[in-house]
Amino acid sequence: MISTIDHLVRPNIRALKPYRSARQDHVSGILLDANENAFGSSVSWDGVPLNRYPDPAQRQLRDRLAEMNGVPPTSIFVGVGSDEVIDLLFRIFCEPGRSNVVIPEPTYGMYRVAAAVQDAEVRSCLLTEEFQLDADVVRRCVDGNTRLVFVCTPNNPTANLLRREAILALTAENAVVVVDEAYLDFADAASLAPSAASTPNLVVTRTLSKAWGLAGARCGYAVAHPSVIDWLMRVKSPYNMNALTASVALEALANQDRMKASVERIIEERRWLEAKLVKLSCVEHVFPSDANFLLVRVSDANRIYAHLAAQGIIVRNRSTELRCDNCLRMTVGTRPQNELLIAALRGVVQ
Ligand SMILES: Cc1ncc(COP(=O)(O)O)c(C=O)c1O
Repeated sequence: MISTIDHLVRPNIRALKPYRSARQDHVSGILLDANENAFGSSVSWDGVPLNRYPDPAQRQLRDRLAEMNGVPPTSIFVGVGSDEVIDLLFRIFCEPGRSNVVIPEPTYGMYRVAAAVQDAEVRSCLLTEEFQLDADVVRRCVDGNTRLVFVCTPNNPTANLLRREAILALTAENAVVVVDEAYLDFADAASLAPSAASTPNLVVTRTLSKAWGLAGARCGYAVAHPSVIDWLMRVKSPYNMNALTASVALEALANQDRMKASVERIIEERRWLEAKLVKLSCVEHVFPSDANFLLVRVSDANRIYAHLAAQGIIVRNRSTELRCDNCLRMTVGTRPQNELLIAALRGVVQ
């Protein structure tokens, strides 16, 4: 494990003098410092002071997330979805035209897009046939210009958890290992968040978009060593987390049981859907899932995708992804939605 990641940070970011926003020093008093509208907002919303800029340090939300994850608030960064965290990591660590990132595939497509935006080379390596992480295969792609290694667990689109030891083995490299736990709430596994808080080159990203049902609110977060969080805080836009989302997120996080009940229902539905899918003649294989979706190998993905779309049922065609030929990714829906999906698949003419 490396003791600091500062040498991996781009020189211009190391030299950056961060913007100091008005709300950084004072959040109460007679606030005439930020050119806000002192007369109030044009609409009121559930007691949220919308005429005021939100707390740039996101203190309340970070405190709550810290408590939930068993880490100090200095190890939490809140973003506009975990996609913002991914984007900022590229901007902090990847020198355009020079740095590379290692991505074991098939996996979530945004890592590649964020790499392209930053003009970072993508070094793709394959997960095993069982969609597992082989740390040696990943290691062989790492060189002196590698800055980030992405690992998604449970992985999208394969739905399975990756082996914890293999992930942790990657932290021996001179690069930042980013572990995307967007779907972890659906899995029977512990988060790597506590390890991330004390490992300088391990970043865990999580989101309220999936199990918490808040995809529309756009709230994700990173758990990492305070030094990584400090870099994220320096480069983020001053008020990235808006007051409405922060308020909604705090309200949701106050009731973890509600989220857990929702997860239980989804897992129950996933089992129902899986049991129905395996019996269909157009289904060749349903991959084991630790997430809120199923990866399904079908007889002809393109044709079946179009057949479902024609009936207004939209799934994701993943058949062009490595190792995913003829695979569709299906999000677990409500029982009526799942019944319609199964009925439509029964109508597929072989
Ligand atoms: C693996 C993975 N990570 C991150 C995200 C994005 O999450 P957010 O809504 O927090 O930006 C998704 C969205 O589908 C995802 O599948």
